[in-house]
Amino acid sequence: MRVFNTTKALQEALDGVRAEGKTIGLVPTMGALHAGHASLVERSVGENDCTVVSVFVNPTQFNDPKDLQNYPRDLEADCDLLARLKADFVFAPTVSEAYPEPDTRQFSYPPIDTVMEGARRPGHFNGVCQIVSKLFDWVKPTRAYFGEKDFQQIAVVRAMVRDLGFPLELRPCPIVREESGLALSSRNELLTPAERETAVNISRALRESVDFAREHTVEETHRFVVDQLNAIEGLEVEYYEIVDGTSLQPVADWAESDYIVGCITVYCGARPVRLIDNVKYKG
Ligand code: PAF
Repeated sequence: MRVFNTTKALQEALDGVRAEGKTIGLVPTMGALHAGHASLVERSVGENDCTVVSVFVNPTQFNDPKDLQNYPRDLEADCDLLARLKADFVFAPTVSEAYPEPDTRQFSYPPIDTVMEGARRPGHFNGVCQIVSKLFDWVKPTRAYFGEKDFQQIAVVRAMVRDLGFPLELRPCPIVREESGLALSSRNELLTPAERETAVNISRALRESVDFAREHTVEETHRFVVDQLNAIEGLEVEYYEIVDGTSLQPVADWAESDYIVGCITVYCGARPVRLIDNVKYKG
């Protein structure tokens, strides 16, 4: 496995890979890798001749400086894991390498990027599009892998790929969960053991709501999740939205769409840590 810190060295190596007619898989990450990321890397390694994993905590997608500062970082541990997973290249640029000039580009894909995370984290998806479009330009992947935990992020990236005509296949990959049901997230590292147990309620409520939804309306199902979680000390729901899985617009009735997903963001614990998760009701 080779580790690159500059776009020039990365691109030279990738030119060689492409010259041999090989396919390239890209797994963009912000590091602090866990089994969720590992599942993306494994899939890419299985489907491509060469897998590139980027490890970069992208400052432009953080709207809260404290969140950026607290974001876990451990490149050495990440590289150990990536070597075991048989990734070929790791790309870990500095901020000034990734952004030699301030990035003034504006990406806007309403209504997909204006709801849920987009409404609560101004500039977040713009920052995601800035770095992901740069990675796509540098790596020119055949396929790019994203986890479905960030459900809205995939929809935004899909809109950008269409808009800018990137010639690649997007590969959404299923959420990986602990045995307890907790969705794996780098942010889980910020939870105390007790908070981690409290956080398990998020996936439990979502899972139970799928059965509940069979006999109840969208509004009742929404209330079922929110009331249950807000009643637990240490949890506070920021939003729960039951949406069409393609347009990400709220649905009022289960008959409105064949693809319906519930997306949640919950604050957990004393710090507090902002956790996201989602569940599929239809589709
Ligand atoms: O999902 C993430 O970890 C980040 O948003 C991404 C896609 C690596 C861009 O920084």
